[in-house]
This record gives sequence, C-alpha cells and structure tokens, in this order.
Amino acid sequence: MFNCEEISLNWDEAYKGTPPWDVGHPQPVFETLIEDGEIKPGRALDIGCGRGENAIMLAISGCDVTDIDLAEVAISDAKAKAAERHLNVNLIVADVLRMDQLFMEAEFDVVIDSGLFHTMTDEERPIFARQVHRVLKPGGKYFMLCFSDKEPEGLGPRRVSKAEIEHTFTPFFNIVYIKDSAFESKFGSCRREAYLVSAVRS
Ligand SMILES: C[S@@+](CC[C@H](N)C(=O)[O-])C[C@H]1O[C@@H](n2cnc3c(N)ncnc32)[C@H](O)[C@@H]1O
Repeated sequence: MFNCEEISLNWDEAYKGTPPWDVGHPQPVFETLIEDGEIKPGRALDIGCGRGENAIMLAISGCDVTDIDLAEVAISDAKAKAAERHLNVNLIVADVLRMDQLFMEAEFDVVIDSGLFHTMTDEERPIFARQVHRVLKPGGKYFMLCFSDKEPEGLGPRRVSKAEIEHTFTPFFNIVYIKDSAFESKFGSCRREAYLVSAVRS
C-alpha cells in the first residue's frame, strides 16, 4: 500500500490519510540530537518536513525554523499545528531540488532531513546534495535519517548503503558519522532500520 515510488508521484495523496512515517510526534533521534547539544539554537531548515513535528520541536528548542515540503496538504496541516501551539515557523510549499530559487546562499546553520534523501533517485541525489550544501553556512551541519540497507526489503523507500551516502555527500561535506539508528513508524514493525548521518558543509 505504501510503496514509496508510487507515493512520490503524489505526496499530497499520501497526506489525505496518515502515512506510515507520520507518527504524530518528532522522530526520537532528532530529540536526542537536541538534548545532546548536537543541534543548537540557530537558523534551522527542515527539508521534506511533512506535518512538521520535527520542525515544531526545533522551534521549541529555540531555533528560528523554516520548513519546506512539496505536499500542500502537509504544509497546510503543519501551519495549523504551529498556530495551535503559538509557534512561529516559516512553512513553505517548495521543491528541495530547487532551493536556489527560494533561499540565499549560506542562510542556515543546520538542515535536518527525516526521510527525504531516501526518496531521491540516482539522478536527483547529486542535485540534492549540492542544494543542501548551498543553503548551509560554511561549517553548517546537515543531519539526515534514511532507511538503511539493514532494513529488510519490502514496502517503503529505497534502502540506502553507507557507500551510497559517502558517494553522494563527500564532494560537498565532511561526514562526521554514519550511525546505525531507527525510524519510528506507524505500521508494521515500529522500528525501521536507519542510518543517522551527521555531515558538516565543507
Ligand atoms: C517520508 S516523508 C517524511 C516527512 C517528515 N520529514 C517526517 O519525518 O514525518 C518525505 C517527505 O518529503 C516530501 N518531499 C518529497 N519530495 C520532495 C521534494 N522534492 N521537495 C520537498 N519535499 C519533498 C514529501 O511530501 C514528504 O512529506
């Protein structure tokens, strides 16, 4: 039912219901990054923010937050959620592959990505990495959570290997770590094998 290739044709359709990644609270991994001080207050961008739970958490932690997502429904729901919680989050319907039309160079201290990179095709990956690099300040940090090749094949997005992550990002970033991690998911096994990547804009 939730085949990522089909969903990617129409993300808005996925948000007419509750897609499996939409767990209704921040992904625990990003909470830990804030608690551990790896993500500090500053200008933060959440790419592919979905219904905005991670971004709302960043705003509560003291970040000045901008979110983008292709899905109008997701952005509209995230706006309602932020307003309900009296939080100021800048939410924009936009394509991560065209951020050069939206943001100045070096606008952000941190970019977070919870489940976006693993939806990119082989052709899109280098464009994606260049776009993320462009919006980060020198020394800015990119934190990414993607399905890992340790997750059994089946429904969901492409599994990503460490070698693929290194190949995509080393031209633009110094990779600090690629750690075994997990996504919380609403359906099936609650824990889905993931890699957490920390990279610094070179
Ligand atoms: C797997 S979901 C993750 C959503 C959210 N980050 C979360 O953790 O709940 C991937 C999100 O990326 C968005 N997306 C897909 N392609 C995109 C693109 N080219 N630019 C911006 N957002 C995109 C989808 O609409 C979807 O909300």
